Amino acid sequence: MSNKNENRFIFLKTEVRSILNLRHQILRPNNPPKDAEFYGDNEMETFHFALHIAGEREPVCCVSYMLVPYEDGQDAYQLRGMATAEVWQGKGCGKEIVAKAQELIMQNTGITRFWCKAREEAIVFYEKQGWRVASELFNVEGVGPHKTMTFGI
Ligand SMILES: CC(C)(COP(=O)(O)OP(=O)(O)OC[C@H]1O[C@@H](n2cnc3c(N)ncnc32)[C@H](O)[C@@H]1OP(=O)(O)O)[C@@H](O)C(=O)NCCC(=O)NCCS
Repeated sequence: MSNKNENRFIFLKTEVRSILNLRHQILRPNNPPKDAEFYGDNEMETFHFALHIAGEREPVCCVSYMLVPYEDGQDAYQLRGMATAEVWQGKGCGKEIVAKAQELIMQNTGITRFWCKAREEAIVFYEKQGWRVASELFNVEGVGPHKTMTFGI
C-alpha cells in the first residue's frame, strides 16, 4: 500500500495555520476552533507536517512534533495532532506521514526519541508504526482514555 501511495501524496513540512482546520474537524469537532491550537505550536523547534493531494489546498493528513522531554528528563519529540481526513483513513496516509516526519526530524535534529499520548482507539495504529505502549490507561479531560507510547525510547 505504501508504494502505491508514494506518488499519490505530497509530503510537506508546513505552517500550523495550514493544518488547523483538519485538526479541528478530526480531533476537536465539538469544540470551538481555538481548541485545535496547542501549546508549543509556534515554538521554533516545533515541526508541522502535512500530506496533500496535488493541487488541493486542504491537507488530507497532518501531524506535529514538539520538543518536550520524556518523563526521564531526556530530550525527545512529542507527537501531537495526528489526524487523517475521514475519507482518507485506512489508506496509508498516517503510516506515510509518521515515517517521513520522524526520518526528517532525526536527520535535522539528531533526536531519535519520540513519545505521545495515544487515544485508546489509535494505539494499534501506532504499534504498527513501531511504537510501544509505556503506561496504563489514563483520562485526558474532554478527550477520553489514552496511553503514553514511545518510539526509540
Ligand atoms: C488513527 C489515524 C491517525 C490513523 O491514520 P490512517 O491514515 O487512517 O492510518 P493508515 O491508513 O496509514 O494505517 C496504517 C496501519 O494502521 C492501521 N490502523 C489505522 N488506524 C487504526 C486504528 N484506529 N485501529 C487499528 N489499526 C489502525 C491500518 O489498518 C494500517 O494497517 P496495515 O499497515 O496493517 O495495513 C486516523 O485513523 C485518524 O485520524 N483517526 C481519528 C483521529 C485519531 O484518533 N488520531 C490519533 C490521536 S492519538
